[in-house]
Amino acid sequence: MNLPERVKEVQNWLKDDLAKVNDTFNSVEEFRLKYIGKKGLIPALFRDFGSLDASLKREVGKNLNILKKEAEEAVSQLKERLTAKSGQDEEFDYTLPGMPFNRGNLHPVTQTMNRICDIFCEMGFGIEFGPEIETDFNNFQALNFPDNHPARDMQDTFFIEDDILLRTHTSPIQIRTMLKKKPPIRILAPGRVFRNEAINPRSYCVFHQIEGLYVDEDVSFAELKMTIEVFAKKFFGKDVQIRFRPSYFPFTEPSAEVDVSCFICGGKGCRLCKHTGWLEIMGCGMVDPNVLEACGIDSERYTGYAFGMGPDRITLLKYGINDIRLLFEGDIRFLKQF
Ligand code: PHE
Repeated sequence: MNLPERVKEVQNWLKDDLAKVNDTFNSVEEFRLKYIGKKGLIPALFRDFGSLDASLKREVGKNLNILKKEAEEAVSQLKERLTAKSGQDEEFDYTLPGMPFNRGNLHPVTQTMNRICDIFCEMGFGIEFGPEIETDFNNFQALNFPDNHPARDMQDTFFIEDDILLRTHTSPIQIRTMLKKKPPIRILAPGRVFRNEAINPRSYCVFHQIEGLYVDEDVSFAELKMTIEVFAKKFFGKDVQIRFRPSYFPFTEPSAEVDVSCFICGGKGCRLCKHTGWLEIMGCGMVDPNVLEACGIDSERYTGYAFGMGPDRITLLKYGINDIRLLFEGDIRFLKQF
């Protein structure tokens, strides 16, 4: 076949093939290589053009140039269509290393709080939240801290106005719940609390509490003990022991402090438990009748228990971290270890 015929033939193929190209990178690329790639059909025609009889050069040269232009335009249109469609640059280098994708994780205190909430939810507790800015009534008064009562000194308070403050504990959530719901009440109240304390490895001005409250007819201290024991075994391991020590809180009577046997040394004594064999994990007690009455609950008919714990401290114990400030500084190098 002579060159003018071959040019015609390639022109026909081009038309046919163009109709078959689909909107994929591979298909367009295949088409490009076949016609205008270095080893493609059109450059091959140009190579043979050199040895063509001089009398035919004018005519064939013109057709050859038209063919080349057609092919190039077709390819550039196909590429445009492809880019518009995929929003991708076809020059993208698929061999480049991928973009680093950092997986986030929950803050260790959040993990502890979630776990604690899960365990109590399994036991039938619901979750309640409350605001971090509270009234003196909800934070103190209704919790049986009368004005000028020395117990207020137990909690160094950030006041915003005379009667408005940053909550010093999550107990005001108990009050809010009892004011809006009637017994039976069985809730957990997790949240951030604030105290004007010296900042050092063991205390910080912001920390977390999880409070529990159960109010119903015939709620007893025995039930409180049982509930705490079930929780402690689920959270710290089935071999831990618990003990209750008498304590004082204005809003509970009687009140107790709960210790678990040290989960590092099993009670034998080590650095974590300061050689006592015990770790303090929460305060608790029977809700003082004054608190129930302040919320309009009949204290002759109903009794209740409450407990409160510090998930920050529990997190420090669990991971053997010796500085509480690490939990609040947001340093990724520290946080990504959990
Ligand atoms: N709210 C108490 C505190 O911050 C903890 C607590 C809660 C104690 C409930 C007993 C019962 O110290």
